[in-house]
Amino acid sequence: MKGAVFTGLAEFVEKHYSLTDWLEAIDACELPSNGEFLATEIYDDDEFFQIAGALSKQLNTPAPDLYRAFGKYFFETLLSLTIKHVEHIDELFEFIRAVDSIIHTEVQKADPLAYTPTLLYDQPSDDALVVRYMSKRKMCHFAEGLILGAAEHFNQKVELCQNQCMLEGDEHCLIRIQKQ
Ligand code: HEM
Repeated sequence: MKGAVFTGLAEFVEKHYSLTDWLEAIDACELPSNGEFLATEIYDDDEFFQIAGALSKQLNTPAPDLYRAFGKYFFETLLSLTIKHVEHIDELFEFIRAVDSIIHTEVQKADPLAYTPTLLYDQPSDDALVVRYMSKRKMCHFAEGLILGAAEHFNQKVELCQNQCMLEGDEHCLIRIQKQ
């Protein structure tokens, strides 16, 4: 996984908790990187899952809540990397659709070693969008957080629910975004 995600997580923990919490979590893990991350490098996914697991335990926060909060926080950082490709978009669902067709495609072009999830879309009505999420990483709660960050960015109130989830043994996750 891209180092930028690790450095983003470190920043999130320092801002919302403390630097001590981050250092304690790093200490509790066995990391080939020793917990020193560069945004442009790629690190083993396992390092991310180890740190997230340690944080969840230490902060007494269920992992899905931690992933969601981090995703929401991290959205603006990710957006700033890609702004020129999507600056014409001013509506939430149009933006979410562009994540697979434009944003992650550009990420892949810029760095063939990057791995991004597959997102497919189904729109059952004007005010609902269902995102089908598939990834070897099963980070659907991070995806939910990014969606919540995007909703805030576009000033759109939403409610999310998952009717199917890879973490529950389903083949993919179905994240339903309902506009309020
Ligand atoms: C609502 C919006 C978005 C959603 C739902 C989304 C979804 C995700 C998820 C869930 C991951 C974690 C990896 C995985 O699941 O396998 C990810 C990774 C990533 N996304 Fe997105 N994303 C969004 C917006 C963006 C934006 C705006 C950018 C800007 C360039 C971006 C670039 C990336 C990058 C660089 C990674 C890491 C790839 C790697 O580690 O190799 N995403 N995305």
